Amino acid sequence: MAEPGATLLARLAAAVGPSHVLTAPADLAPWLTDWRGRYTGRALALVRPGSTAEVAAVVAACREHGVPIVPQGGNTSMCGAATPDTSGNALLLSLGRMHRVRAIDSANATLTVEAGVTLAAAQDAARAQDMLFPLSLASEGSATVGGVLSTNAGGTAVLRYGNARELVLGLEVVLADGRVWDGLRGLRKDNTGYDLKQLFVGAEGTLGIVTAAVLKLFPAPRSQATAFVAVPDPAAAVALLGGLRGRLADRLTGFELIGALPLALCRKHHPALPDPLPGHAWYVLVQADDGAQDAPTAADLEAALGAAAERGLVADATIAQSQAQAAALWALRENISEGQRREGPNVKHDISLPVSAIPRFLDEAAHSLRAALPGVRFVTFGHLGDGNLHYNLSAPEREDATAFMANAPAANRIVHDLVAAHGGSISAEHGIGQLKRDELARYKSALELELMRRVKDALDPQGLMNPGKVL
Ligand code: MLT
Ligand code: ZN
Repeated sequence: MAEPGATLLARLAAAVGPSHVLTAPADLAPWLTDWRGRYTGRALALVRPGSTAEVAAVVAACREHGVPIVPQGGNTSMCGAATPDTSGNALLLSLGRMHRVRAIDSANATLTVEAGVTLAAAQDAARAQDMLFPLSLASEGSATVGGVLSTNAGGTAVLRYGNARELVLGLEVVLADGRVWDGLRGLRKDNTGYDLKQLFVGAEGTLGIVTAAVLKLFPAPRSQATAFVAVPDPAAAVALLGGLRGRLADRLTGFELIGALPLALCRKHHPALPDPLPGHAWYVLVQADDGAQDAPTAADLEAALGAAAERGLVADATIAQSQAQAAALWALRENISEGQRREGPNVKHDISLPVSAIPRFLDEAAHSLRAALPGVRFVTFGHLGDGNLHYNLSAPEREDATAFMANAPAANRIVHDLVAAHGGSISAEHGIGQLKRDELARYKSALELELMRRVKDALDPQGLMNPGKVL
């Protein structure tokens, strides 16, 4: 095996062009720290291939030199999945130059894009054809299609449209041996053996590098309704979810729970945002959409909320009267994460549970955490409609946020043990990355871990694809 270093860099420069192999510390710096600022790694170089063939050439060269590769999309991982370790041995491979829309097939309702297309650009491409690509999340301006598929991202419309996994029909992947698998099929039915594309979805780049995808499109919504609802407690929110589902069926697109503290943090750091229903402990943001022309979603939502109020499930509610008002209500939800980040570090959890178990989980977890960490503050919000909560913990008032992070292992144990006891998951939508690798080893069964390792060994026998992530 040749020594990594000068020979490899020369070969990479020949493959992608010298201006796309960056080694100056200042050029690399923005890509070596994750969005949350939790991990900072080092890299041999940052390489920016502009085509699938160039990605394949980079992978082949790295394979010969035994150099690991960390693929990176928009660098918005919540778990450090796209940040190299501190050894400086790995090559950071950005898909950012692969941002072409390759095809849009309206009759087939599919969009074929390269991995570096941002989620927002994919949505725009669909909108230009009067269609919808429904995957939506706060970082969509930076997050890329390759990244959201590699983490099986969720977001705020999973209730109706599913996770990234449900929204992909085909993939193109550069395998660890440098070959290109062309699985760019746009078929809704294809029973020809194992569904290989799904192996790469959620694999966080540990099995190969996603370079392009065929995505599912849907009819663009014709009428939309957004409501901000104060509820007495999470149990009422769960009951409200059932009530709205019964009346709105699949027109219910989003059902987001927001605690008073995350709302306050969001508004503290985004003071221009409204405070629609002050003084309550819990809120739900409801989104309902209809693809049919002139469908009366807003009236339906109002009637459904009225019926829920009669059952004591709604304390107060406001329905957006314009798109601008709807956008402002959504901004209250989508800027929570950013508000938290500006406030300082906190112990984050991205858990899922059966929706029915959530009220009890919240009671039990709060009881145990208060006993272990007196004064702990709960920054609870998330996708209640999907059973997915961001159950984050902040330092007690007037205590140092950074010092509080020393409690993370103890807090994780309490939260994740309880999640496991309720049949839940320790990572609903953010993935594993490096943040939850040890937690995964603790909570997955030995058999599941063995099967995952066998898949990894089969597809990446040298262990060069995003090492140290997931497994
Ligand atoms: C969200 O739902 O806002 C995102 O998953 C981000 C987060 O959990 O911080
Ligand atoms: Zn989320």
